[in-house]
Amino acid sequence: MSAKLSRDARPDRRIPLARPSFGPEEEALLLETLRSGWVTQGPRVEAFEERFARAVGAEHAVAVSSGTAALFLSLHALGVGEGDEVVVPSLTFIASVNAIVHVGATPVLVDVDDDSHNLDPVAVASALTPRTRAILVVHQLGLPADLDAIQKLADANGITLVEDSACAMGSSHGGRPVGSSTNLGCFSFHPRKVLVTGEGGMITTRDGALAARLRRLRHQGMSTSDLERHRADRVIRERYAEVGYNLRLSDLHAAVGIAQLEKLDGFVAARRALGARYDAQLAALPQVAVRGCPPYAQPNYQSYVLRLPGIDGETRDRVLDALHARGVATRRGLMAVHREEAYREAHRGGSLAVSEQLDDQTLLLPMYSDLSRDDQDFVLDRFREVLNQLVPPDGARS
Ligand SMILES: Cc1ncc(COP(=O)(O)O)c(C=O)c1O
Repeated sequence: MSAKLSRDARPDRRIPLARPSFGPEEEALLLETLRSGWVTQGPRVEAFEERFARAVGAEHAVAVSSGTAALFLSLHALGVGEGDEVVVPSLTFIASVNAIVHVGATPVLVDVDDDSHNLDPVAVASALTPRTRAILVVHQLGLPADLDAIQKLADANGITLVEDSACAMGSSHGGRPVGSSTNLGCFSFHPRKVLVTGEGGMITTRDGALAARLRRLRHQGMSTSDLERHRADRVIRERYAEVGYNLRLSDLHAAVGIAQLEKLDGFVAARRALGARYDAQLAALPQVAVRGCPPYAQPNYQSYVLRLPGIDGETRDRVLDALHARGVATRRGLMAVHREEAYREAHRGGSLAVSEQLDDQTLLLPMYSDLSRDDQDFVLDRFREVLNQLVPPDGARS
């Protein structure tokens, strides 16, 4: 038996869906931070913000405790609240929609483009009302959305655009990094993301006054940060001009983020190579539709999503179970938020047919920067096996 065959046959072989890439650099910075005694928001958060802003070409970056916190605080700081509507795709992680509800506004769920799975500008245009205050553009699984078309709509109607870039660190739009636009950009550092701190988030902006306010709001509305007070040569009496929150990131998380930032280009390059390899091999299967990538988008392959056209949700779930049983971790693709109990009542109509089809027909395959070619081949072999068994080519597109 060859080495490959014997490894394939190992019953305990399991490929995770995602895995952060940590090394001695993260360990050293984390230990140094622990030993410094400064473990809440402090000098490492400040350094992480500066380096993050440079990496994405933003003027300012404000670290917060999660991607959800970044969305919430951005909407809140822009004055979005009760009585306002915010247009958002139904096909997204539920956090995008929860953040809108948490500021007291009403989410208006719209459909997405069949090929890219990103917000459909035509659907956005038809959802606008006099109450629309903002559009939350989600760069789905790291694939940049059609920002130019949606920006035109927003500008023409005096509406604010916020980018849910939770998955899009390292992606570019027309050669410009996600995070460098004039909009507020909201990033996540959850372990399924490209850059990982455990929990964590970042807001990017070109507006210095807004950045300063976001920094106050994340820290109970306090006029002066702990770091400024610590560095001062006298005791600074802090003020509280408005009600704030505790949405701080800790220096422990920031230390990991600083080390991760140094490796970002390598992470993205590795994911793009793996993504291209998946695309090439899966496009050859008649049962599979690989996701389209518009010419303006340079994605980071935060996740690898594919579609099995013509199947129903039950068959897709059987595919997930069969992959899992063969040692390949998988998940359904993006969720359609309006189908979840929390939002079923709230959706006030309008067809979300594309989102529903994608909710039923998409799935994720393992994707992380350290995924070896051998493990990727194992995934592809198991996937072909499962497809041949459960989704025979003849019936696939009926
Ligand atoms: C599209 C999208 N928005 C928001 C979030 C929320 O990020 P976090 O988990 O850091 O709060 C996620 C995270 O999974 C996401 O995928």
